[in-house]
Amino acid sequence: MKLNELLSGIDVLESAADPALEITGVSYDSRQTKPGDLFVAITGYETDGHRFIPMAREKGAACVLCQRKPEGEDPCVVVSDSRAALARLGRNWFGDPAASMTMVGVTGTNGKTTTTYLLKDVLEKCLGAKVGLIGTNQNMIGDEVLHTERTTPESFELQGLFRAMADGGCTHVVMEVSSHALCLQRVAGIRFAAGLFTNLSQDHLDFHETMENYCDAKALLFRQSEQGVYNADDPWAARVTKDAPCPLLSFGEKSGDLRAENIRLSVDGVSFDAVCAGETVPVRVGIPGGFTVYNALGVLAAAKALGVPLRDSARVLAESRGVKGRVEVVPVPWDYTVLIDYAVTPDAIENVLTTVRGFAKGRVVILFGCGGDRDRGKRPKMGRIAAQLADFVVVTSDNPRTEDPEFIISEILPGLEGTSTPYVVEPDRVKAIRYALDHAQPDDVIILAGKGHETYQIVGHEKRHLDEREVVADYIAERKRNA
Ligand SMILES: Nc1ncnc2c1ncn2[C@@H]1O[C@H](COP(=O)(O)OP(=O)(O)OP(=O)(O)O)[C@@H](O)[C@H]1O
Ligand SMILES: [Mg+2]
Repeated sequence: MKLNELLSGIDVLESAADPALEITGVSYDSRQTKPGDLFVAITGYETDGHRFIPMAREKGAACVLCQRKPEGEDPCVVVSDSRAALARLGRNWFGDPAASMTMVGVTGTNGKTTTTYLLKDVLEKCLGAKVGLIGTNQNMIGDEVLHTERTTPESFELQGLFRAMADGGCTHVVMEVSSHALCLQRVAGIRFAAGLFTNLSQDHLDFHETMENYCDAKALLFRQSEQGVYNADDPWAARVTKDAPCPLLSFGEKSGDLRAENIRLSVDGVSFDAVCAGETVPVRVGIPGGFTVYNALGVLAAAKALGVPLRDSARVLAESRGVKGRVEVVPVPWDYTVLIDYAVTPDAIENVLTTVRGFAKGRVVILFGCGGDRDRGKRPKMGRIAAQLADFVVVTSDNPRTEDPEFIISEILPGLEGTSTPYVVEPDRVKAIRYALDHAQPDDVIILAGKGHETYQIVGHEKRHLDEREVVADYIAERKRNA
C-alpha cells in the first residue's frame, strides 16, 4: 500500500518520507519487523518503542512512524499520538472492516466474558446472524475458535481480526472492551451499535491508580457507541453515564428501564420476570449466581437495543449451556460439589461465595490465590472476604508470574488473620486442590477460584500446563485405583 494511502486520516506533524513509498507491512514490535514495513514507535506502559527504531531499520523497515523524530535521514513520519495512529493504520490497512458489521462492546470489572458468550448465542439464534466474538477465553468466528493472548488485542491485530470476521461472513461482532483497551486506544475509531457497562469494582489500580480514573476509562466506551446500555444499580452508574453523548437504556433489580422482579436463585441457575415498558417476560438461565441475573439483564437490554424482542432473547437464554470457567461444575463421584470459577477480584470472590452460600447445604470451601505483577491492593481484601464468607479457606498460588509465590501469599494472609475461619496455606496449586478434595465432607461445595478457563499457570515468564479439571480427574482415578 502506498504510504500516503496508509496514512489517510492521520494527523501528520512532519513527514520526511516519499508519499508514494510502497509499504508491505506494519509492525510495532521491532522483533516482528520485516523488510518493507512501516514501523510504529509506541511509547509503551513498560517500554518505549522509539528505542527500537534502529533495530527496526536494521530489519528493513521502509519507514518509521513516531512521536519524536529520530536521528539521521531515513524516511520517517512524526505524529502527536502513535497509539491513535496505529489504530487508524489498522483500519486503513484492513479496509475498515468494523464499519461493515454491527459492533457490540462490553465493558465492566466483571461479567464481560459471560455476557459476550450469552449475547453471541442470542444474536445467532434470534437474528440468524454469524457472530464474531473477542474476549478473555478465546476469539471466535462463528463456531471457529481462535487462540487469544489478551481480553482486547492491540489495535492493529484487532482490525486484522475484524477483517477475518468480515471475510468469514460475520455480520455482528460482540467483544470485551477492557479499560486498558479504552485508555490505550486499542478500539479507537470503532463505532459500536451498542456499548454495554456491566459493573465497576476494585481492579487494575496498578494501571488506573484511582477508582475515578478507572470509571472514567470505562465511560469512554459510550463516546463511540450509538446506544449505551448500563447497570443502573451499580454505584458508579451516574459517573459512568454523566457525559454519555448517546441514548441510554438502563437495567437493574432496584431500578432501570428493564428490571428483574420475582428473582429466584438455585444451585442450577436463576429465574426472574423481566419487566420493561409494561411488558413482562419470564426468564430462566442455567448458570447459578445472583450476578447471573445482572448478566442476563445486560444481554436482554443490549439485544433489545439491536431490535431483538425480549421474549426471543429469553427463549435462547433458557437453552444456554453456561461459559467455561464461570461457575462451572466439575463432576465428582462423591457427595460434595466442585466448582471452577474465574473469580479474580474482591467483588467476584464475594459474588461467587454469596452465590454458593445461597444453595450450599454443607461447608463452603474456597481455594484461591492472587496474580503476581498485578494490583497488590486487592490481596488482603480477597483474603478478608474469603474468611468472612467461607467455612474453610485454602490459600495457594494463582499466576505468580515474576513475583515470589510465598510473598504474594504473605500479602493475602493479613486478611485472614484474626478471623475464626480455619485456613491452610499450600503454595503448590495441585497439592492445594488435592488437599481440598482429601478433606472434603458430605454436602460441601469446593470452589476452585481464579483459574476459570485457563489451563496453565504462569510462573516467571513460563506458561506451565495446569488444567484443574485434569487435576480433579487424576485424583478421582487414583482414589478409584487405591479403593
Ligand atoms: N455481573 C457480574 N458481577 C459480578 N461478578 C460477576 C459477574 N459476572 C460474573 N462474575 C464473577 O466474575 C467472574 C469473572 O466473570 P467474567 O469472566 O464473565 O468477567 P470478565 O469481566 O470477563 O473478567 P476479566 O476482566 O477477567 O476478563 C465469574 O467467574 C464470576 O465469579
Ligand atoms: Mg473476560
